[in-house]
Amino acid sequence: MNEYKVTVIPGDGIGVDITREAIKVLEKVGEKYNTKFNFTTLKAGGCALDEFGVPLPQETLEECKKSDAVFLGAVGGPKWDVLPGNKRPEKALMGLRGGLGLYANLRPAKVYNILKSASPLKEAIIDKGIDLLVVRELTGGIYFGERGRGAEEDVNYAYDTEKYNVNEIKRIAHVAFKAAMKRKKKVTSVDKANILESSRLWRETVVEVAKEYPEVELNHLYVDNTAMQLVRDPSQFDVILTSNIFGDILSDEASMITGSIGMLPSASLRNDSFGMYEPIHGSAPDIAGKDLANPLAQILSAAMMLEYSFNMSEAARDIENAVEKVLEKGYRTGDIYTEGTTKVGTKKMGELVLEEL
Ligand code: IPM
Ligand code: MG
Repeated sequence: MNEYKVTVIPGDGIGVDITREAIKVLEKVGEKYNTKFNFTTLKAGGCALDEFGVPLPQETLEECKKSDAVFLGAVGGPKWDVLPGNKRPEKALMGLRGGLGLYANLRPAKVYNILKSASPLKEAIIDKGIDLLVVRELTGGIYFGERGRGAEEDVNYAYDTEKYNVNEIKRIAHVAFKAAMKRKKKVTSVDKANILESSRLWRETVVEVAKEYPEVELNHLYVDNTAMQLVRDPSQFDVILTSNIFGDILSDEASMITGSIGMLPSASLRNDSFGMYEPIHGSAPDIAGKDLANPLAQILSAAMMLEYSFNMSEAARDIENAVEKVLEKGYRTGDIYTEGTTKVGTKKMGELVLEEL
C-alpha cells in the first residue's frame, strides 16, 4: 500500500465546507487504489490570525514542508480586510507560495458542455469550445519584488517592482512547453513587451526555451490584447504562459467565461511532484457554513493532486468522470443552477460524487 502525507488547510469561509467533501472523495479513491492518505489539518488565513495573531503560523509552514502535498480550501473574508498588509489572510498564501517554492501555477479553464448556458459569452463563441491552461509564474514578479512607501517634497508615494531573472522565466517556460506537449502543442506567451523591460526579457527567454520544443507552436500576445481575445475567441488558446500579475488577472477572466468559477481547480507546483492544490474561487464568506457552496472545484483539485503529486492519473480521471456524471444527471449547486435542474447543497453534492465513484 502507498502512503502519502497531506497537509489540509481548510482556511476560511466555505473552505471548511468544501475540503470536508473533497477529503471523503480522496478516501474513497484511496481505498480503490490501495493508497492511504494521512491528513493533518492545520490553520492558515483569517482563522490563524484570530487564533495565533499571524496569517501563516510557523507550524503550518513546517508541516507543509514535511508533506507530500498541500490541500488548501480558501482564505480571507471581510472581517480581516481592515488589517494592514502584513496581517492580511492573503499573506498566508504568499507565505505558502514563497516558503514552499511553488513557482508554477496551473489553472485549467474548460467549459463543461452541460454547463455551457452558464457562460456569459454568446453561444456562437462558446460553441467553439474553451479548453485552456493558464501557466502563471507564482513566486516572482511584482508580487514578490521590492515595495515601499516614502515622501518626496511632502508628497507621499508608494511603489512595487516587477523583476524577473532569466532562470525564473526559463523554468516556468519549460512547465508551459511540457504541458503543451501533452495538449494541443500551442503556447501563447503573454507580456507587455511594448512597454516593460521585464517583458522584453521574458519574451527573449521564452523564444530561447521554445527552441527545445520544436513541435510546439509559440506565439506572443500583449496582455491587453489577450484580455480581448479571451472574450472574442477563447478557442484559439491552448496554453497561456505568463507572469504572476498578468496570470492573476487573466485566470480570473478565463474562469469567468467558462461560466463556472465554482468548478475550477488549480495546482501550484515546486517540481514534478510536490505541490499545493486549491480551487480558483475565494472563500465566499456570505455562504460559509450554510451548505450552499459548490464543492466541485475542491474535488477537482483533489484530482489534480492525485495526478501531479501521486502519479495516480487513473484515479484522477475517475474523479473527473464522477463529477461529469453528477452534472449530467442534472444536479447543481446554487452557483451553477439553471431552471430544470435539481438544486442540491454542498454535502449532497459530495455524496453524489461518492456514489459515482
Ligand atoms: C489568486 C488570488 C490571490 C492572488 C490573492 C488572494 C492574493 O487572487 O490566487 O489568484 O492574487 O494571487
Ligand atoms: Mg486571483
